[in-house]
Amino acid sequence: MTRTDRTQVAIVGGGPAGLLLSHLLHLEGIESVVLEHRSQDHVQSRLRAGVLEQGTVDTLRDAGLGAGMAARGMPQTAIDFRFGRRSHLIDFTHETGGRQVMVYPQHEVVTDLIRARLEAGGQVWFDTPVTQLDDLTTSRPVVHYEVDGEPHQLRCDIVAGCDGFRGLSREAMPADARTSYDRIYPFAWLGILAEVPPAAPTVTWGCHESGFAMLSFRSSTVSRLYLQCAPDDKPENWSDDRIWHTLHERLDVDDMPPLIEGRITQKGVTGMRSFLSEPMQHGRLFLAGDAAHIVPPTGAKGLNAAVADIRVLSRGILDFYRRASTDVLDQYSALCLERMWLVQRFSAGLCTMVHQFPGQGAFERRLQRADLDTLTGTHAGRLAFSENFTGLPYAI
Ligand code: FAD
Ligand code: PHB
Repeated sequence: MTRTDRTQVAIVGGGPAGLLLSHLLHLEGIESVVLEHRSQDHVQSRLRAGVLEQGTVDTLRDAGLGAGMAARGMPQTAIDFRFGRRSHLIDFTHETGGRQVMVYPQHEVVTDLIRARLEAGGQVWFDTPVTQLDDLTTSRPVVHYEVDGEPHQLRCDIVAGCDGFRGLSREAMPADARTSYDRIYPFAWLGILAEVPPAAPTVTWGCHESGFAMLSFRSSTVSRLYLQCAPDDKPENWSDDRIWHTLHERLDVDDMPPLIEGRITQKGVTGMRSFLSEPMQHGRLFLAGDAAHIVPPTGAKGLNAAVADIRVLSRGILDFYRRASTDVLDQYSALCLERMWLVQRFSAGLCTMVHQFPGQGAFERRLQRADLDTLTGTHAGRLAFSENFTGLPYAI
């Protein structure tokens, strides 16, 4: 492919945020280039999030990306909290008057987006690390990148920093112009992929005194399971026997069928962090998704939060080109952060409620149980959970 040295919008990072932005801009006739550090194969096979909010599903469908979800997505109307040896179902569709979520894995979303971009002749440059961003406070920012170790430049009107938590876009903002909030949790998740039909039709959370565990799925024959482990734990510390024993201990209850065991095909440790950097913009640079904020995966919000940012950013960019208006772009950070702080609150609150903290005393344990009773046993608790889990209203 011939590389241009000029585009309207340079997008750093080809994860869900960057690819969706490129696709939405393309639908409006706005040109962009996505520069992605890793290979196409790597990006499409990274195993990450699973749950899409109702609004994420609608956004993807409205953008012509609904076919994969229609064929392979698994709509969900309830979640099962298990504690005290019993199942406590929250029917979030009933609580919210009809809202659902969809289990449709992130790598499928990314694969759908890449296919749509490439079929439309879109510029997605894989194996292309961005090395530096310059002139961000001018009307002609410059993106420096490498191909096979050789330096190149891309000039543009706008830079979208969609390069995830470890990208360089956030650091391209002057340190004295941003404030970071950071909390690292004293536990992690061991994520497991197993060739076994899910033992329950709903995502199931086991809140046990030995730690948290979750049953989710990727298809009718593949289960996705998580269990709380130490932050410095290694997958090799977990034999298949130890994994199944721990999952049974935390997820099995008296009023539901037990877990079904099967062949484990993958295991990996994911850390838990709440992080936010504000503001999310500097001159012509706009951060979106994990580049600006991280949530612990408990609430299944990371990918959904990226989509919420991109809705605002794509509208702002559209107004910039079509109406010569910067009203939305000027407000980008404020519009995203108002919703994002509510997402942070929900994610951190749930994470704290369902995990066991090292050295936690009996009093904290009883309070956690009272929180779970309030969440599942009161109308207010179920409603608040359901509104957050299915997705809060968008700014735009
Ligand atoms: P990313 O998906 O991180 O994409 C950023 C892209 O930028 C990457 O492809 C990266 O290669 C690229 N990049 C980085 N630096 C450069 C550079 N210098 N030049 C060019 N490209 C660059 N969320 C949940 O809701 N549930 C989960 O179970 C869950 N599990 C997770 C497990 C892991 C290991 C991780 C890391 C995240 C998980 N998340 C989960 C969060 C969710 O996957 C993210 O919120 C989501 O991927 C955010 O999308 P993004 O596009 O903002 O960032
Ligand atoms: C997942 O399927 O990966 C998943 C499901 C529910 C969560 C988090 C992750 O809350």
